[in-house]
Amino acid sequence: MDYAFKPVSEHQNGATFPVRRMDYSFEGINRDFIKNNPVSSALWIAFQAYFPEGEQFFVDSVRASQKEITDPQLKRDVSAFIGQEAMHGKEHKVANLAFAKVGINVNKLEKAAGWVRKQTNQRLGKKLRLAVTAAAEHFTGVIAQQIAFHPGFLSGVTDPQIKQLILWHAMEETEHRAVAFDLYQHTKGDYLTRALGMGIVSAGIAPVVLVDMVACLRQTGQLSKTKAWAEFLVDYWGPKGFFTQAVPELMKYFKADFHPNQENPEELLHAFRRYLDIVEPTFH
Ligand SMILES: [Fe+2]
Ligand SMILES: [Fe+2]
Repeated sequence: MDYAFKPVSEHQNGATFPVRRMDYSFEGINRDFIKNNPVSSALWIAFQAYFPEGEQFFVDSVRASQKEITDPQLKRDVSAFIGQEAMHGKEHKVANLAFAKVGINVNKLEKAAGWVRKQTNQRLGKKLRLAVTAAAEHFTGVIAQQIAFHPGFLSGVTDPQIKQLILWHAMEETEHRAVAFDLYQHTKGDYLTRALGMGIVSAGIAPVVLVDMVACLRQTGQLSKTKAWAEFLVDYWGPKGFFTQAVPELMKYFKADFHPNQENPEELLHAFRRYLDIVEPTFH
């Protein structure tokens, strides 16, 4: 790794995965950090613009059901989930500020996301909010899998700090990918509401991200770069594209007997530890 991975601190408190405190600065980041392509980079900038508020939404929704937990291990894992998501929100907020310094200000997007979070918290019941969170966690889990294994993705990330942010976040999404789902099942969540949660997530993400990508590209005057759009479409929606390959994985969520850890996450975690130069934990 060309940028040392050094958490400020790390604690586990009996959970099945640790909470790492990070403190990135993102000084001097490369704005077009995905293959030096402004369109592909705008996708990730628009997507990550929602993380500070999105992560807060996940935390709010698991907290609302936390009192109903009777299983001590799940209780510890939910606390660690909250710790990891809070840290993701904090570091992505710093990244958002760094992008503003290089010409892409996502302040308006963050504010809009904050408004949506508050409205959702007020208007939707806790079961549906937890279902939306469990679905979004499957979404981030699938994206994490793509980040690690999609050919050419990681080698195309040209900014070492952003690369590390992506890898750290994706690794932790993999570590905690079953927590919101297990909490949903533990609190007697039904299949239909769970499927509705995924319906909301899948219908909502693509149009919002597309509109916001356009907003980001307008700021830097790169909206009409047709070559960059063409490369983006092939890389993400072509026959072997990043999203084309993610869709069947996302759809598995609709199976009645789905569980996020059905496909053993160990291989994926092993890959992230290798990328980040983390010594593999030993079990006695
Ligand atoms: Fe996260
Ligand atoms: Fe997550």
